Amino acid sequence: IDVKALRSSTGGVITIDPGYKNTGSCESGITFLDGEKGILRYRGYSIEELAEKADFLEVAYLLIFGELPTKEQHDKFHADIKKQSVVDDDVRKIVDAFPKSAHPMGVLSSLTSALTAFNPSSVNVDSEEDMYNSVVKILGKFPVLVAWTLRKKHGLPLDYGDNNLGYVENVLKMMFKQPNQEYVQNKVIVDALDKLLILHADHEQNCSTSTVRIVGSSHAGLFASLSAGISALWGPLHGGANQAVLEMLEAIKEDGGDTKKYMAKAKDKNDSFRLMGFGHRVYKNFDPRAKIIKTSADEVLGDLGVEDPILDIAKGLEKEALEDSYFVDRKLYPNVDFYSGIIYRAMGIPTDMFTVMFALGRLPGWIAQWREMRLRKEPIGRPRQLYIGETHRSFVPMSKR
Ligand code: ACO
Repeated sequence: IDVKALRSSTGGVITIDPGYKNTGSCESGITFLDGEKGILRYRGYSIEELAEKADFLEVAYLLIFGELPTKEQHDKFHADIKKQSVVDDDVRKIVDAFPKSAHPMGVLSSLTSALTAFNPSSVNVDSEEDMYNSVVKILGKFPVLVAWTLRKKHGLPLDYGDNNLGYVENVLKMMFKQPNQEYVQNKVIVDALDKLLILHADHEQNCSTSTVRIVGSSHAGLFASLSAGISALWGPLHGGANQAVLEMLEAIKEDGGDTKKYMAKAKDKNDSFRLMGFGHRVYKNFDPRAKIIKTSADEVLGDLGVEDPILDIAKGLEKEALEDSYFVDRKLYPNVDFYSGIIYRAMGIPTDMFTVMFALGRLPGWIAQWREMRLRKEPIGRPRQLYIGETHRSFVPMSKR
């Protein structure tokens, strides 16, 4: 078959696949996902092994450049990122302009897009070196935006971090350091956040990643493409599910903890309620990330000495769903977001910041996918449609309508 000729002519044939349930948008060598078997691998390495043995920056390097870094490569990568860990002072003015009540995802998306204005050269990615510079720039500046988003909410001064710290330690310090107080790192929290970020780092062509690729395919800059990805992640059917899960668990607790009542609501087709944190477009088996996070939630809460009744409600819901024919028949299992919010909460992260933490973890994946798309010189993303509107009509002047 002459694929080139086929591509250049539609031949009048268009496939319709709402939600792209069965349509591949690209060829990719980054993340392998087998939804039937519950397998997830980054560049061929299993998620279980990476979560246990690697650190987040190593995984970021792996996703973006394709290989695990040597110590030298890792240190250079980190040093280059650290050089970029300040933002233009005028970004503070933009942060100041948001109301305190603004949702952190809206703030983060706007700030990420605004970074282009202060770093116009980041749009030029004609060489691999230009691309590298844009990549380390955003990896350095994004944690500052994440931290400032939280600090703004809490009315705290917009400080910078400490470049002597590891990437994840630095994020935590930037987020939580109180004025005139020393910030003491808690290893349990650092390790747990590192693991959560690794688990969220990539997930092939999901809604936000496809958004980043499609916006980037018009050759809009990296930061603008990421900003669009952040907006896509915000929704409760995607990354916003981690916030929605916790709000749902809280509501069940407030309502007396009757999980059966909510199971019935989720199954009722006349009720729009869905069991948040359950189901996945691709996994028709256990989400392997959910398994790791569930164990991690037990460990973190145990280590921090936190007793959270919400965890018991979550486990109760999971048990009931796994024995319920509605969920079994539709292959609805807990997804990555079902337990992550419980850990974030134990770390002291406010509920509406959960999706921001997801974005921080997903950043290397978005970057890797954008870079792959640009290096492969993919064409602009432009789906077709099946027109179902009026055929041809004659214009009717307003006085005669
Ligand atoms: N609760 C109750 N019923 C559900 C749920 C749920 N959480 N998820 C799916 N279903 C049902 C649907 O009603 C549908 O039933 P039907 O066949 O009787 O009509 C069937 O299962 C298939 O569901 P779809 O919506 O067609 O599946 P889709 O692949 O389009 O959606 C999604 C996947 C969006 C994740 C869905 O399962 C959902 O809304 N889950 C809750 C939100 C959530 O947790 N999102 C996070 C996903 S992970 C991530 O993005 C990081």
